[in-house]
Amino acid sequence: MTSERRTVLVTGGAGYIGSHAALALAARGDRPLVLDNLSKGHREPIERVLGVPVIQADTRDRAALDVIFARERIDAVMHFAAFMEVGESVLDPLKYYENNVHGTVTLLQAMQAAGISTLVFSSTCATYGVPEVVPIPEEHPQNPLNPYGRSKLVVEKILAECETAWGLRSVSFRYFNAAGAHPNGLLGEDHDPETHLIPLALHAALGKRPSIRIFGEDYDTPDGTCVRDYIHVSDLADAHVLGLDYLLGGGASTAVNLGNGRGFSVKEVIAAAARVTGREIAVEKAERRPGDSPVLVGASARARELLGWSPRYPELDTIIAHAWAWHQKQHG
Ligand SMILES: NC(=O)c1ccc[n+]([C@@H]2O[C@H](COP(=O)([O-])OP(=O)(O)OC[C@H]3O[C@@H](n4cnc5c(N)ncnc54)[C@H](O)[C@@H]3O)[C@@H](O)[C@H]2O)c1
Repeated sequence: MTSERRTVLVTGGAGYIGSHAALALAARGDRPLVLDNLSKGHREPIERVLGVPVIQADTRDRAALDVIFARERIDAVMHFAAFMEVGESVLDPLKYYENNVHGTVTLLQAMQAAGISTLVFSSTCATYGVPEVVPIPEEHPQNPLNPYGRSKLVVEKILAECETAWGLRSVSFRYFNAAGAHPNGLLGEDHDPETHLIPLALHAALGKRPSIRIFGEDYDTPDGTCVRDYIHVSDLADAHVLGLDYLLGGGASTAVNLGNGRGFSVKEVIAAAARVTGREIAVEKAERRPGDSPVLVGASARARELLGWSPRYPELDTIIAHAWAWHQKQHG
């Protein structure tokens, strides 16, 4: 808890993770300014919860950023705004470099001009590629398998270069699979199209889709399906607040995994969703998807040691129960 009230620009703050981070900042007395172009995000829930308007602007719009930086006394930036669909990035890589890289470069130019040198950045475990060791430590080689992951890796490199050149300091958080919803039931995951396993399973439980597909049952894992590390979105939000305090307290730039350190298979997640909802979830077998690693689980020691972070909601059933409460309210 800091005593000073900080003003933090939250790009992509009308999206899933950014909205939770904005609320976590407000909850501890900071002043989040939510900037979002609303290409994917949702204005209404975040405005209702925060009680302040979303600034509708694009990170690629330098003039708009300059106006905001001139008008507000911004202490730091949390940068969530990006596209994040792996499959789409393979089909349309330039769309990803244009938004995720060019958008970040424009934001950094505006920050540099305004003298703002503190950034918390949303990176991803997709920067690692196929893991050589599991759990994956931050020192693991980064060889992304798709343009989405590469767009985030390029930004990580740019941040390091900006540090050398003009003193930017940053924490790049490499998230594993964000999941769950705010325990207050007011914010949740609302992607369109939805490609994430837990919301898809809950859509099936609600009868919004007939079934969900399991992509490959012949992986070298205990039950043959892919294993992933699910991290509660409120735990991600808490880590961002701690990351901000770390930087404002003089901490050195770094990259930090955000995961639970535990893996759950696709079948385990579907079984947990059936258990939590008390509903049957029909599954269909499908071919493996190219580029899916059998196991992605992150080592989370650095987040614990450097930031004093530990997940409040590590249990899969709790993560799914919070998501279920939110989905039922939206669509039930
Ligand atoms: N969801 C996950 O599991 C996950 C995992 C790893 C990393 N990430 C990263 O976390 C961040 C947030 O992910 P999310 O799940 O909340 O996605 P999201 O799509 O819900 O949120 C992203 C927000 O950014 C906005 N946006 C996109 N481009 C913009 C631009 N140029 N200018 C202004 N706003 C823009 C969108 O409208 C959206 O509201 C992304 O950078 C993503 O790559 C997410």
